[in-house]
Amino acid sequence: MTLALITGGSEGIGLELAKCFASDGTDLILMARDMKKLNQAKQLLEKTYAVHVTVISKDLSQPHAARELYEQLKDRNIDYVINNAGCGTADASWRIPPEQDEAMISVNVTSVTVLTSLFLNDMLARNSGTIMNVASTGAFLPGPYIASYYASKAYVLRYTEAVAEEVRGSGVHVCCLCPGPAATSFYRKSRQKVPSFAMQAADCAAYAYAKMKSGQTVIVPGMINQLSRLVPKKPAMYFVGKLKKKKDG
Ligand SMILES: NC(=O)c1ccc[n+]([C@@H]2O[C@H](COP(=O)([O-])OP(=O)(O)OC[C@H]3O[C@@H](n4cnc5c(N)ncnc54)[C@H](OP(=O)(O)O)[C@@H]3O)[C@@H](O)[C@H]2O)c1
Repeated sequence: MTLALITGGSEGIGLELAKCFASDGTDLILMARDMKKLNQAKQLLEKTYAVHVTVISKDLSQPHAARELYEQLKDRNIDYVINNAGCGTADASWRIPPEQDEAMISVNVTSVTVLTSLFLNDMLARNSGTIMNVASTGAFLPGPYIASYYASKAYVLRYTEAVAEEVRGSGVHVCCLCPGPAATSFYRKSRQKVPSFAMQAADCAAYAYAKMKSGQTVIVPGMINQLSRLVPKKPAMYFVGKLKKKKDG
């Protein structure tokens, strides 16, 4: 039986990815903060698919949380590590309380780095395994009025691409998922409206799962999102600034 760890697996893109793994018969470890949502996800997955789901409640914004998670799981021979948990705030950078940015960086940047590094050592020793880190199309450009979130995702993309190159030919696959807008509660939590052109999280996850399995390194679901990479930085940045400033008042 194969085993996948999905951080932020209780809802949104993480839960949809969990369904993809479960439909292939992969057992799951889902980690997030809210135990009620985690148990709901476990129930849903175990009722629908023939898999076993373990749930772990942990706050990745806390110092050492990623290390503790690894210590808890290091003997379980995890085949897939999906660093999906993420959060962000859209506002003028000077209006975001620094402690909120610090917590976001702990989740989006520090935890992704620590979990990649620790699990990668074990996977390299076995010459097998896959790590998929979740960035965003926000990684492709500076994001006025969502500056720290976009910057955190740029880190995830560049870090993951570099690590993927380091392990090329080792039997371990490292890849980065860059979703564009997807209809999840991420927007409500970051006090933004879901854009009308947002993808369904299930479509985003199905595409990501298939491309991860095929060995792709940078995965961008959706044609418009793929094309967005080609827009020059200045106009793209201007557009994001207009969009975010208007929405956030
Ligand atoms: N939705 C989009 O448009 C979009 C676009 C590009 C990239 N992304 C990225 O995709 C990933 C998934 O986002 P989503 O849209 O599915 O968001 P979501 O529906 O808000 O789900 C986020 C998941 O992360 C968990 N999480 C958040 N903060 C955490 C913390 N401090 N410690 C542990 N777990 C935490 C949440 O559970 P708890 O709250 O219970 O902890 C939840 O399971 C994120 O990395 C996000 O940045 C999303």
